Amino acid sequence: MKFGYFDDINKEYVITSPKTPLPWINYLGCESFFSLISNTGGGYSFYKDAKLLRLTRYRYNNVPCDNNGRYFYIKDSGTVWNPGWQPMQTPLDSYACRHGLGYTIFESSKNDLAASVTAFVPIGDNCEINKVTLKNKGSEKKEISLFSYIEFCLWNAVDDSTNFQRNLNTGEVELEPSVIYHKTEYRERRNHYAVYSVNEPVAGFDTDRDSFLGAYRSPANPEVIESGASKNTVASGWSPCGSFHLKASLQPGEEVSYVFVLGYVENPVEEKWESLGVINKRPAHAMLERYNTVAKTDAAFAALKDYWNNLLSKYTLETEDDKLCRMVNIWNQYQCMVTFNMSRSASYYESGTGRGMGFRDSSQDLLGFVHLIPELARERILDIASTQFEDGSAYHQYQPLTKTGNMDIGSGFNDDPLWLIAGTSAYIRETGDYTILDEMVPFDNKEELSAPLIEHLRRSFHFFDYNKGPHKLPLIGRADWNDCLNLNCFSETPGESFQTTGPNEGPVAESVFIAGMYVKYGNEYAVMCEKIGLAEEASEVRDKVADMYQAVLSAGWDGEWFVRAYDANSDIIGSHQCKEGQIFIEPQGMCVMAGIGVEEKLAEKALDSVKEKLDTKYGIVLLQPAYQEYHVNLGEISSYPPGYKENAGIFCHNNPWISIAETVIGRGNRAFEVYKKTCPAYIEDISEIHRAEPYAYAQMIAGKDAKNHGEAKNSWLTGTAAWTFTNISQYILGIRPDFDGLIVDPCLPDTIKDMTIRRIFRGAEYVIKVENHGGHQKGIRKIVVDGKEIEGNLIPIEKGKKFYNVIALM
Ligand code: BGC
Ligand code: NOJ
Repeated sequence: MKFGYFDDINKEYVITSPKTPLPWINYLGCESFFSLISNTGGGYSFYKDAKLLRLTRYRYNNVPCDNNGRYFYIKDSGTVWNPGWQPMQTPLDSYACRHGLGYTIFESSKNDLAASVTAFVPIGDNCEINKVTLKNKGSEKKEISLFSYIEFCLWNAVDDSTNFQRNLNTGEVELEPSVIYHKTEYRERRNHYAVYSVNEPVAGFDTDRDSFLGAYRSPANPEVIESGASKNTVASGWSPCGSFHLKASLQPGEEVSYVFVLGYVENPVEEKWESLGVINKRPAHAMLERYNTVAKTDAAFAALKDYWNNLLSKYTLETEDDKLCRMVNIWNQYQCMVTFNMSRSASYYESGTGRGMGFRDSSQDLLGFVHLIPELARERILDIASTQFEDGSAYHQYQPLTKTGNMDIGSGFNDDPLWLIAGTSAYIRETGDYTILDEMVPFDNKEELSAPLIEHLRRSFHFFDYNKGPHKLPLIGRADWNDCLNLNCFSETPGESFQTTGPNEGPVAESVFIAGMYVKYGNEYAVMCEKIGLAEEASEVRDKVADMYQAVLSAGWDGEWFVRAYDANSDIIGSHQCKEGQIFIEPQGMCVMAGIGVEEKLAEKALDSVKEKLDTKYGIVLLQPAYQEYHVNLGEISSYPPGYKENAGIFCHNNPWISIAETVIGRGNRAFEVYKKTCPAYIEDISEIHRAEPYAYAQMIAGKDAKNHGEAKNSWLTGTAAWTFTNISQYILGIRPDFDGLIVDPCLPDTIKDMTIRRIFRGAEYVIKVENHGGHQKGIRKIVVDGKEIEGNLIPIEKGKKFYNVIALM
């Protein structure tokens, strides 16, 4: 069952019923100002950091769900309705929510009145714009009242939802009155305020939430809306809100538009505070002026569309499969941008108050983002690297605003160091820019501890010189990629069970998964060394990698698949000898991606075992058999009921590892089958089962041991976006940036007979036509570049050349 459809021409998903199984959201903003917006107008806005600078309030964990947003109430001869259906839920005559790239449009109607709301964050400004248009479609004149409503957050979202004894006294606003300034905190010389405005004179306003709503009421039935008149309140403490009342008289066929702006403003540093508590309105006025007419607003909207069209032109696919094209050309790349911006901070499952940027997560997000805006990827790599410690380990997370490591979470996730190599390698392969390796970057955010980036990568790699266990495999520390496999847990006290003894304090738990990473990214590090003239180091690195490869073959192979780990007692995890958790997905994917066992013909066996033991109709589960009971020595993993999350859920993030691994051994049909199973566009038809958005990946789909097998949770902020884009664009379709140029190496299902890929790469455009009329799965037989056949499948870069016409025959 579907709740909408893809509009590929407009690059939109059009939701046709407000009652989706879960809120289906979109993100506005791609620079510093961001908003979440659901298909009913719910969501919130923030500047840079969803925890520290939140403009509007949102109520997680509320009933009804998806509570609070930017709401418009339309009062038309006694009937009141919202274009997004919520919060009043008045039945509409028609409803559509068009989620597009960086914008959302609502188009609804009731009693011959049509309303549209276009919400977006313009490029270059820190605000969300809502353009509201009302059109009289009837044959009689209409007298309409339009009310808007938002609720301000008092900036720090955690403090805002906990520290009421203070916060109910601090709220302050100022009015113009078509402009509301929310200036709580300004008094203490914090240099920011929010502004909320409409571009026309108003009939009334409200800034005190409780007066607007009325006692014991909610946004579903505000007193002001019921009475039809604003109370013109000026908030003093309590909960400031922003509401405007506009009156329109519409002849048949007539329409009217208003532009509402919610913005974040900082006092320019060079301008002094006028006096305590008095805000400097100049920057706000300047911003509002840029959107004070419909024409200016429409131009900003058009500029946003151009921005996205340009970004998406970096990689485009033409082939017969519509679902594949829309994921590759639009939605997967879009989600890569969103994960780059949000990391794991703000979604409908991440409250924006907890996790910020992740060392591991943000490094991986780069893999799918770097081709879009390489300069931003470069900056991000340097930010991430500066949260690394001198010994190569790293703060696991950092706060986007301050860019400093999060001490509460600390370090000890031993896969972290290697992800820095992965992200940097992706950047260099995309851009050929080796100068990044010379950039001076602090360790532990301390300027005095600065060293060139290459030194950071060196420490990442050599971290494992002194962090190996008895099987010569990397120590796992608190966890590796699988946050919940905590093998150094000793505490028998319930609640303390996730405590570890910290890195290097004697635990011997080892990870075969990290060993796979070490081989894969160690090899990439060696190439980087070579390219910048460190040949000796490169060969030393390769020797160490070769030792690790052997360690995996001798202690990490179980006969039919790769072992997962050794626990703190050196007992094996992920082996047929175990009662549960006999086989895990992660080492099968990572080791084969690293090339381990390919020559030895073990790779094929491992992937066959995955298919036999872990595959389901909705994707590959993380492990089998699921842990039925809680095991303190395994940590958080068995705290989940069977089939959910890391305990045998379908973790979408590592499904593409298996798909890539299949391409490594040339099985295109299977690689594509794995790709399709979790791919949102291919499961749109079962939205009643999947329940999450059909245009974005979710982190997890319930596995076969779960009651709700096939149901997704935690959509949007997941490494799945980057890894699936890497998989489809570089391995299945096979256009892969490498250190010396673009490699053409498709591994296709035999159903794809023709495809054309346009790729902007290092300043040149490549048009690559792949013909596979024989229905092969892998292997390029001939490549012709601008009429000349080349050797091998790497397109040599010719300096100054701007256009490459490539024909590849499989
Ligand atoms: C989840 C993991 C997540 C971790 C983050 C765990 O509860 O299961 O998926 O990565 O929390 O801290
Ligand atoms: C989600 C986390 O963000 C990611 O870092 C981790 O690898 C996976 N969960 C698996 O535990």
